[in-house]
Amino acid sequence: MNDPIKSFRLDGKTILITGASSGIGAMLARQFAAAGGRVALAARRVERLQALADELKATGAAVTTVSLDVTRTDMIASALAQIEAELGVVDVLINNAGVAQPASFLKTSTEALESTMATNFTAAWNLTAEVAKRLVAAKRGGSVINIASVLGLGVGPGYSAYSASKAALISLTRSLALEFVRYGIRVNALAPGWFVTEMNEDYFATDAGREYLKRIPPGRAGQLGELVGPALLLASDAGSYVNGVVLPVDGGHHVALV
Ligand SMILES: NC(=O)c1ccc[n+]([C@@H]2O[C@H](COP(=O)([O-])OP(=O)(O)OC[C@H]3O[C@@H](n4cnc5c(N)ncnc54)[C@H](OP(=O)(O)O)[C@@H]3O)[C@@H](O)[C@H]2O)c1
Repeated sequence: MNDPIKSFRLDGKTILITGASSGIGAMLARQFAAAGGRVALAARRVERLQALADELKATGAAVTTVSLDVTRTDMIASALAQIEAELGVVDVLINNAGVAQPASFLKTSTEALESTMATNFTAAWNLTAEVAKRLVAAKRGGSVINIASVLGLGVGPGYSAYSASKAALISLTRSLALEFVRYGIRVNALAPGWFVTEMNEDYFATDAGREYLKRIPPGRAGQLGELVGPALLLASDAGSYVNGVVLPVDGGHHVALV
């Protein structure tokens, strides 16, 4: 009998995950390898990537690591060439690397804005261009998943630069969904609500942070595993007709943000 769950598997697909050295990226790498994918782990902290790669290889997964600062445009083509030589053409790109430097608008320097935009937006632009060029040359379809944020849909105090970067990423998601549909390349975004990771764990360890989580509509942060189903839908053939969507994974937080 036909197994409807099978279309969520990633067997035979090569997946590049940026920011795979911690948090959401490391979790997606583990789960996508468990779903049968070949995973390329990219970030700056290579010792973290190597430890994760060793863990995944021990389960029989095909894995490689790439030392990549995503803001270094000059490193992108060689990183993709390395991955292609080791694991094949990248079928699924997860633009997950991201930074947040929360501060009120008047205390946000131009440098902070520029570095936030460079990591959260321009890097995704450049990586997607390189991956898409290679897919088109290979006459293969693919999937790009941009890790945006509910703060790209609505705003919160102290997040002007971050929200602008994620809103730009959401806009790019829609533009590329339209332009790449002819190549069979789907482009979608996940918009996570709050998940406790290295990016925010100091704040959520404070009384103010714990109280904040009680006040948001779901009354708690998400568990990292709650991103897996939505990410698998967008990455796999189960989502073959899903293109250009921005899927909040936030327990409904976004409905109160706008
Ligand atoms: N946690 C949340 O509540 C939340 C909510 C919405 C959206 N998000 C988004 O989710 C994504 C992952 O964040 P996270 O929560 O998992 O935080 P995290 O644990 O701090 O992870 C951020 C990742 O980005 C990588 N990174 C940062 N700058 C980079 C650069 N220049 N080049 C390459 N990699 C870089 C880091 O790796 P290296 O330092 O090793 O390079 C790290 O692996 C981000 O885009 C974030 O905006 C998070």
